[in-house]
Amino acid sequence: MKVKKAVIPAAGLGTRFLPATKAQPKEMLPIVDTPTIQYIVEEAVESGIEDLIIITGRHKRAIEDHFDKNIELEMALERKQKLEMLEQIKDISSLINVHYVRQKEAKGLGHAILCAKTFIGNEPFAVLLGDDIVKAKKPVTKQLIEAFEEKQSTVIGVQKVKDENVSKYGIVEYSKNNGDLYKVDGLVEKPELKDAPSNIAILGRYIITPEIFNILESTPPGKGSEIQLTDALVELMDKEDIYAQVFSGKRYDIGNKLGFLEATIEFALDREDIGGPFREYLYSLLQQELPSLEEIATSKSN
Ligand code: G1P
Repeated sequence: MKVKKAVIPAAGLGTRFLPATKAQPKEMLPIVDTPTIQYIVEEAVESGIEDLIIITGRHKRAIEDHFDKNIELEMALERKQKLEMLEQIKDISSLINVHYVRQKEAKGLGHAILCAKTFIGNEPFAVLLGDDIVKAKKPVTKQLIEAFEEKQSTVIGVQKVKDENVSKYGIVEYSKNNGDLYKVDGLVEKPELKDAPSNIAILGRYIITPEIFNILESTPPGKGSEIQLTDALVELMDKEDIYAQVFSGKRYDIGNKLGFLEATIEFALDREDIGGPFREYLYSLLQQELPSLEEIATSKSN
């Protein structure tokens, strides 16, 4: 079966980015000049996804507006002959068919995915989480779709993480692997390092078979008293094999401030329009204004 539909959960409150997220969705915070959710939608489009559902909540109208047409703005740009900008704006609204459903209560990722049940129907589907942005030659979702096409079973996107980060992620237990494809024996949501079966972490991309919906309907709240997708996947393993694909690409955890800054700097350095001058600016800043490591060490010891 082909993977043509995708789910992007975007109902979270974004408390880690307050006050910026008091009156705007965290998914609309820009990396350089592009809202983070647009990078995710572009990955879905480049992976061959045809229909997309975004799970939203209250205060998320800006996301819908972003992927809609803005006739007034288009007319103004045309009048001012800002044609390049006009094309950019038009492109966003014609990227893909985007649908929306509201998650009325924040009951966890598993519950958010369950909200897409009717839209997805009886097909395998992709899940892309907005806190993980991956720069890759081949989009990660496409990498996972290829693994799915081979196995016709649920595939999770994973990478190795450092010990100190293990407790932030769903962690994979495995005993067999064929190159970058691991057969999953178990999954644990955000274990303590000492209880973790490995350092292989689920990093925000999944291809899942529709059986997950029946399971999610009766999945009890787990870690953090939320209905966890990871717990439902554990149950899915009774019905089918699950695989973990180590994807290639550099992943940014934009769900935390440091990761967000790293993505901002690296994406800006890559830009044709501002990359050069920005590099020069960073270079001069490092030369002149930042205290040296010795200075920091001395000021700490005083
Ligand atoms: C979710 C998943 C977790 C996964 C992570 C990836 O957690 O529950 O298994 O490793 O996304 O970013 P969250 O970060 O939404 O709490």
